[in-house]
Amino acid sequence: MKITFFGHSSLGIEVNGKHIVVDPFISGNPKASHIDIHSLKADFILLTHAHQDHILDVEAIAKRTNAIIVSNWEIATYYGNKGFQNHPMNHGGSWDFEFGKVKYVNAIHSSSFPDGTYGGNPGGFVIEGEHKNIYIAGDTALTMDMKLIPLRTKLDLAILPIGSNFTMDVEDAITAAEFVECDKVLGIHYDTFGYIEINHEEAIKKFFNSGKDLMLLEIGGFIEL
Ligand code: NI
Ligand code: MN
Repeated sequence: MKITFFGHSSLGIEVNGKHIVVDPFISGNPKASHIDIHSLKADFILLTHAHQDHILDVEAIAKRTNAIIVSNWEIATYYGNKGFQNHPMNHGGSWDFEFGKVKYVNAIHSSSFPDGTYGGNPGGFVIEGEHKNIYIAGDTALTMDMKLIPLRTKLDLAILPIGSNFTMDVEDAITAAEFVECDKVLGIHYDTFGYIEINHEEAIKKFFNSGKDLMLLEIGGFIEL
């Protein structure tokens, strides 16, 4: 499983020969100007919630690639009504896709579309594929529900927001890593705008002092599991 960071909360995942794009907000992020949304490969687009900083490039990518949009019922239906392929899910549900198993799990946040359209309840994803398991928390507060994840899934990587203000901060993300029982964390949702700027060295040190490994990738950088 290869995971590429496209900035903010945007990710590319290659698993079992399929390309997944998660929460594409790239063309609106000046820090990601070297990532070209017109050449990204996508068989599936996974959306945690409907906020602009997670869906900005969905239509451009889906139009070109015909990717299947996977999200909660309201978001999937919103894109379905516009003619896009979609797979609706809801909290607690799982589906076996060609690339692996996806479970839509709880997040504490909000989820309206930029125009105010109801975007259902926000979520995260647990993805199991190629014998590796990852958790993408989406935008969320620290929540006790995270403790449910390791009851079913032994994680190899937790992808957690760390920028505070709109989501967990570094300290809460460390507790989240404990709740999901995963010491390997990829940080997302930081530095993109003023409200969520963080000190990288400090964040990495805090995780290290808790016996955990925080990875902060360059935009365009990747890790392989
Ligand atoms: Ni959000
Ligand atoms: Mn966000």
